[in-house]
Amino acid sequence: MKAIGLFKYLPIEDEQSFVDVTLDQPVPKGRDLLVKVHAISVNPVDTKVRAPNNEVETEPRILGWDAAGEVTAIGNEVEHYAIGDRVFYAGDLTRSGSNAEYQLVDEQIVGHMPKTIGYAEAAALPLTSITAWEALFERLQISKTGADEGKSILIISGAGGVGSIAIQLAKKVAKLHVIATASRPASINWAKARGADKIINHRNSLDDELKKIGISQVDYILCLNSTEKHWAAMANAIVPQGRIASIVETEPVDLSLLQSKSATFVWELMFTRSMYQTPDMIEQQHLLNEIAMLVDRGEIISTMNEVIRPISASNLRIAHRLIEQGDMIGKVVLADWA
Ligand SMILES: NC(=O)c1ccc[n+]([C@@H]2O[C@H](COP(=O)([O-])OP(=O)(O)OC[C@H]3O[C@@H](n4cnc5c(N)ncnc54)[C@H](OP(=O)(O)O)[C@@H]3O)[C@@H](O)[C@H]2O)c1
Repeated sequence: MKAIGLFKYLPIEDEQSFVDVTLDQPVPKGRDLLVKVHAISVNPVDTKVRAPNNEVETEPRILGWDAAGEVTAIGNEVEHYAIGDRVFYAGDLTRSGSNAEYQLVDEQIVGHMPKTIGYAEAAALPLTSITAWEALFERLQISKTGADEGKSILIISGAGGVGSIAIQLAKKVAKLHVIATASRPASINWAKARGADKIINHRNSLDDELKKIGISQVDYILCLNSTEKHWAAMANAIVPQGRIASIVETEPVDLSLLQSKSATFVWELMFTRSMYQTPDMIEQQHLLNEIAMLVDRGEIISTMNEVIRPISASNLRIAHRLIEQGDMIGKVVLADWA
């Protein structure tokens, strides 16, 4: 099978940073599905794992944690999928990734693909949807059934991959008042079109920006970029007994800023369940199926903004370069093998 691998961790400008390789097709066992990958998307985790260092791999390392495709074989313990099913998933950071024509993935972290969109649009969704869903409904404990309607959330980095879906879930599912951050006309328009009620600029002081729109405090904060930079402003803006979640690694921050408010800070890492094989790992299958249902009902839309064809080492380098610039709007997808 075709795959895109790396042997060395090189700057993305280097033609050897990704190479086209041919590998044996894997064979599924246990709860694994063998999926023929039709489209993939690229996330900042890919560029972080690929970051230049001196390590050298003896076998090509396959990255990639977002895919949509078709089940072509199943392990003997698989219960929820059959050959021919169209699926979408992010996969597991500790296993071989989706930058390959065929991939093994545990059925517990796989969802049935939405029926109303194609492979490319579907591949944009899994990693960021799992992140946003777990952050909003599990870590921040916001109601999925509208019980928190009218409460406010500040989403820092509204137009990026995660923000693009988090805004939609916060608005359409939780019915919150959504304040999102964006700094350029294109990202502002994108975040508004996904349902943000108000936009403020994360390049300025968030305290001042919130004041300008007449908001002194918010019930929830979801930080998707630069936790340490926005920390003091988040501590100021959170309501007493409110909850703040971050998905971004950070320098140490001063937790005591939250003490007088009895505010909660919580991490979200969407790989936790697969990495630690937690007993509730199958929740990711359930939430991906809910995302598919929301897409099919027209309540949320794919966050794909750009699709590059075909899936190849040179096109993957283009996508990584876009992510590394740090100004993505929505998601970049690669579709179809040459
Ligand atoms: N923990 C997890 O499970 C998890 C999951 C997914 C992602 N992540 C991490 O979360 C981060 C965001 O992921 P993503 O896919 O959304 O990234 P992305 O798509 O690359 O984000 C790009 C956006 O970041 C905004 N931005 C740039 N500088 C900013 C700043 N100082 N403050 C606020 N926003 C800023 C930009 O907005 P403007 O262009 O408008 O400035 C741009 O739209 C990455 O570090 C990623 O590795 C973690």
